[in-house]
Amino acid sequence: MTPTKFSITAGVPLLNALPKDFIWGAATSALQIEGATGLDGRGRSIWDTFSKRRGKIRAGDHPEQACEHYHRYSQDIRLMRRLNLQAYRLSIAWPRIFPRGRGRINHAGLDYYKRLTDELLNAGIRPFVTLFHWDMPQALYDSHRGFLHRDMAAIFADYVETVVRGLGDRVKDWITLNEPFEHAALGHLTGDHAPGRRSLSGYFTVMHHQLLGHGLALQRIRALAPDARVGITLSQTPIHPASGRQRDQWAAGFANQLINRITLDPLLKGKYPEQVQRRMRWFWPKVTAADLNCIHQPLDFLGINHYSCEFASYRWYIPFLRCWINGAAVAEQEAEIDGRRYTAMGWEVKPEGMAEVLRMLRQEYANPEVIITENGAAFEDQLIDGRVSDPKRIDYLRSYIAEVNRARADGSNVTGYFVWSLMDNFEWAAGYQKRFGLIHVDYPSQRRTIKDSGYWYARLIAEHK
Ligand code: FCB
Repeated sequence: MTPTKFSITAGVPLLNALPKDFIWGAATSALQIEGATGLDGRGRSIWDTFSKRRGKIRAGDHPEQACEHYHRYSQDIRLMRRLNLQAYRLSIAWPRIFPRGRGRINHAGLDYYKRLTDELLNAGIRPFVTLFHWDMPQALYDSHRGFLHRDMAAIFADYVETVVRGLGDRVKDWITLNEPFEHAALGHLTGDHAPGRRSLSGYFTVMHHQLLGHGLALQRIRALAPDARVGITLSQTPIHPASGRQRDQWAAGFANQLINRITLDPLLKGKYPEQVQRRMRWFWPKVTAADLNCIHQPLDFLGINHYSCEFASYRWYIPFLRCWINGAAVAEQEAEIDGRRYTAMGWEVKPEGMAEVLRMLRQEYANPEVIITENGAAFEDQLIDGRVSDPKRIDYLRSYIAEVNRARADGSNVTGYFVWSLMDNFEWAAGYQKRFGLIHVDYPSQRRTIKDSGYWYARLIAEHK
């Protein structure tokens, strides 16, 4: 089916501030697309275990098959070319490299990523490789409780060294961690993600040990591959007060420290946010000055994942935290309420949030080089007669990209943008029902269909060249 002609720039100076070498890409992660979880010596990950627990994943979905990308990557790279992608952000499954988390290397796993990255390079697509996108080897959870144990920072760095030794001749852009906040908070505080724990001290401990692991890994990569560019990817979700009440304003400020600045401050300023550290002292892990030095090292770029904004209100009865985030929560479905639009995740469409994040980084964090490593939206897409018409996703992407362009005009050093996601995939606890892709995946037949938004994005990239 021929796609309709979309006007990308007509009427909107969408890309005029972005330089010609701006990087346009799309992102995925290993667990969400690969499938083949039991193949070629891959060990189990905490997500394989978690998805077997009753009621944890919507509709009992699991990642065993996912998009079968492990087998279909050549076809998927051909689709990336049709989207005109210049870069592709993927992640390495740690349990494919070390089935037991450490010790014996599984060469079949490394070889798979060699083939994949070779084929990307042959297609003229630059691989951006994330080293930890939440799929911790189960063996390390059994032995160390994952990042709850301080030794995990060094174990992570050893794993990273193995990957960089194996792929460093091909891959020049590395991302140590994806969203340490989500792995710490959803995995260890709310219990919604693997490994499903609920503890406040667990949250802070896992956060600190991940960041320490980032610092150690960064040193290893620098030593092994001086020509590589290394960054870390953080989610940034601006939190606004739910009302004009002073207490809600306090709650929003505190929540921003708890969620956003808890990663930015140690990485870019060498210290944890003071208020959080003070109020949470009973739950705080051991943090030495040497730890902070290790975490606070120059980055080549800061990866930012941004989707939406949230609200905070003061709640005296919530122990210690005292704030409730997203008080006016919307069910996980598309909605329009009082002129506010929500995606299928229930996340508000609010492109000003992108501007706010980039402005904050410019004004309060010395304007680092930023790459938007994820931005996108899930909508209730339908495949009809071989076509997915998804104008809401096009609107979403257009409005957020316009803010990236505007921020660049205002002086932000933003150098790249990746859509989440290349294709529909296993959306963690939400399973396969939530579709974020530029490419539709029909899971039973594994047929791929480029959505209208995919054609739109391809044109946008072509027009910008
Ligand atoms: C981010 C994750 C990514 C994906 C999107 C929707 O938090 O990094 O894997 O699930 O959200």
